[in-house]
Parts: sequence; C-alpha cells; structure tokens
Amino acid sequence: MSILQLENIVSGYGSMEVLHGVSLNIEDGKIIALLGPNGAGKTTLLRTIFGVVKPTQGQVLFKGSDISGTPPEKMTKKGICYVPQEGNIFPTLTVQENLEMGAFTREDDWRLRMEEIFEFFPSLTDRRKSSAGELSGGMRQMLAIGRALMVNPEVLLLDEPSTGLAPVLVDHIFERIAALNKQGVTVLLVEQNAQALSAADKAYIIEGGENKAEGSAEELRNNEEIGRLYLGR
Ligand SMILES: Nc1ncnc2c1ncn2[C@@H]1O[C@H](COP(=O)(O)OP(=O)(O)OP(=O)(O)O)[C@@H](O)[C@H]1O
Ligand SMILES: [Mg+2]
Repeated sequence: MSILQLENIVSGYGSMEVLHGVSLNIEDGKIIALLGPNGAGKTTLLRTIFGVVKPTQGQVLFKGSDISGTPPEKMTKKGICYVPQEGNIFPTLTVQENLEMGAFTREDDWRLRMEEIFEFFPSLTDRRKSSAGELSGGMRQMLAIGRALMVNPEVLLLDEPSTGLAPVLVDHIFERIAALNKQGVTVLLVEQNAQALSAADKAYIIEGGENKAEGSAEELRNNEEIGRLYLGR
C-alpha cells in the first residue's frame, strides 16, 4: 500500500518552474531513495511534500487523501517529518534542548521518547549538555534526525543526510536509517550518494525536474547506463 503518493507534481518558486510533473509512489514501511544530480529538484520535491512550497499542479496524497499545500506544522501532526539539507539544528542550544524543540507540537509527555532517542543514538547521550554547534557533522545529522523523531513520525523525509560525512559515518548513518525503518518508519531518502541504493528498497531518479528512472534499488544499482548517466559512475 502507498502511504505517500505524488501525482504529476508541478512546482517551483514564483515564475520559476522546477518540477515539471513528477510522480512517486512511497510504499508503507519501505525506504525509497530519490537520487539525482545537483539542481535536479530533489529538495524542491521534499519541500513540496512538506507544504513549504505549494504545487501549482498535481497532488500529494497521504494514505489516499490529498494533502497538497497543508502547512508544515500540520504535516508533523499527521505523522510526516522533514529533516532539511541545511540549518536542521539549533547550534546555540544544547543537544537535549534541540530534542526538546522537536517535541514542541506534542501535548503529551515526551520525556520517555527523548530517552529512546538517546538510546538509539548513544553517541549523543555523552553530549547531552554540549551546544549542538560544537558537534561533528555526523553527530549533527543524528541530532537533526533525532529531533524529527521526537514526534514518532510515520514518514521521514531526509535531505542528503550523508553529505560531507566521512565514509565510515556514511555507513553508520545509513545503518541507523535502516534500523529506524525496521521499527516501522517509512523513509524517503534523498541523496546524491549512490550508496543510498544499498539501504533502499526502491529508488527513483529525477533530473531537470522530471522522472528519469525507477525500479528496485538492486535493479538500479546493477544498471550500468543509469550508473553512468545519473550516478556518477
Ligand atoms: N528558494 C529558491 N528560489 C528560487 N530558486 C530556487 C530556490 N531553491 C532552489 N531553487 C532552484 O531550483 C532548482 C532545483 O533546486 P533544488 O534545490 O530543488 O535541487 P536539488 O536536486 O536539491 O540540488 P542539490 O543536490 O544541489 O541539493 C535549481 O535550479 C535551484 O537553483
Ligand atoms: Mg537539495
């Protein structure tokens, strides 16, 4: 079953159209990778799903209902969370305060959830009281993901979580994403790093705001032409 569907999404900024009719099917409980070169429209697509940018045509369906243009805070309440590519933590706040910020839409007791997140990212536990701005790139990404997890989302939209990380940390971050998925979180993983295909079930490639390819992650990983054209191989 699809938890999230994009049907012919046209969207952009003012008069600049970036996505020219993109369609995606995100099945419940899966990791879907969305790959494409710089400027392909990947971030614009996540912003459009999350309601930061309104599509001028097409629909975003969540569990079959049209949610196109719903504002971000309502998306979070529905169970969709977004970890942006940049500016995804509050550098002057401590690690713990960052997680608390993630709970701002929750009216119930979220303290237990915070402890679960510290268990899930143990390296953050030792840095609870450090300011987030002092963290390494890898730990910042974990904190940003942790903050989104504070509301127990059903769907997590991740924008290039591996960018700028050393290879060992890239492996670690993809492993944690896979572990989250095992706990039942559906993930849309935007990446330029083709290694994302190892973590994903299915993948889409977009370029120039259009769908270029889709298939099982394995199919795309083994397809030489796709590797050469879109994945920098
Ligand atoms: N806020 C904005 N206002 C106007 N144009 C924008 C804005 N953000 C992005 N663009 C343009 O939209 C196009 C797609 O950008 P987008 O950020 O969605 O690409 P991307 O696939 O995420 O690239 P990257 O891999 O570099 O993050 C680019 O031409 C970009 O210059
Ligand atoms: Mg981007």
